Amino acid sequence: MSHTKAGLIARILNIQGVKTINKGLAIENSWNKAIAISTLAKAGIPTVPTRLLLSVDTQYDGVNYPAIVKPVHGSWGGRLVSLVGNHDELVLLLRHKAVGDAYSKIAMIQPFIGDGTDYRVFIIGDEVVASMVRKPSPGDWRSNVARGGVAHALKLSADAYEIAIKAVKALDLDYAGVDLLYSNETGYMVNEVNAIPEFKGLMSVSGINIARKIAEYVINTARR
Ligand SMILES: Nc1ncnc2c1ncn2[C@@H]1O[C@H](COP(=O)(O)OP(=O)(O)O)[C@@H](O)[C@H]1O
Ligand SMILES: [Mg+2]
Repeated sequence: MSHTKAGLIARILNIQGVKTINKGLAIENSWNKAIAISTLAKAGIPTVPTRLLLSVDTQYDGVNYPAIVKPVHGSWGGRLVSLVGNHDELVLLLRHKAVGDAYSKIAMIQPFIGDGTDYRVFIIGDEVVASMVRKPSPGDWRSNVARGGVAHALKLSADAYEIAIKAVKALDLDYAGVDLLYSNETGYMVNEVNAIPEFKGLMSVSGINIARKIAEYVINTARR
């Protein structure tokens, strides 16, 4: 189900007094990458340094290139995370994207971390159930499997798991796929938190039955 539908339906159910996993507000807060990153930063959790770009015409000083520009949520007519090499490219990109509703005029800018390799940690409750690494395909820097990224199960260090567990707690989620990037200077940091995570790929690379674990969590929570 899409984040928009899931968030809306969960919120309405919550208003009606129905418990949902995840909570509606937690889904919405995670889906908005700017709100999620602010929430995590406030909780002292390492996040990818992020600035909002509110207008094409604003002068953005102190941006180091290459930089990553992305929408606050996946609404630039699909998943459009872009790499910009300099200020002119940034302006060009923002002019090109600044169509549609008010939200699509807002972008986020981040330093380019590592080589685009990202680490998915799947959390249910306060437990790590599986983790994997996704590497970009040759010539790309986006590790999304939909873009040809290659995924392998990988056990990560305790600090990576601790960051992921804390992120899920800070966003008031029951379960989530936490995506981390890694830099040699600063270690792991949260890039995004998926509150409606897909898990077919992670199930097949890890051999762990995530669907069953979610079902068990739901049943245990309902019994409490
Ligand atoms: N700041 C960044 N530095 C390096 N690579 C990034 C950065 N942000 C995104 N990427 C790469 O682009 C991919 C897609 O970006 P992401 O923020 O996860 O958006 P989405 O998955 O919603 O398209 C990431 O999995 C990662 O490979
Ligand atoms: Mg992603």
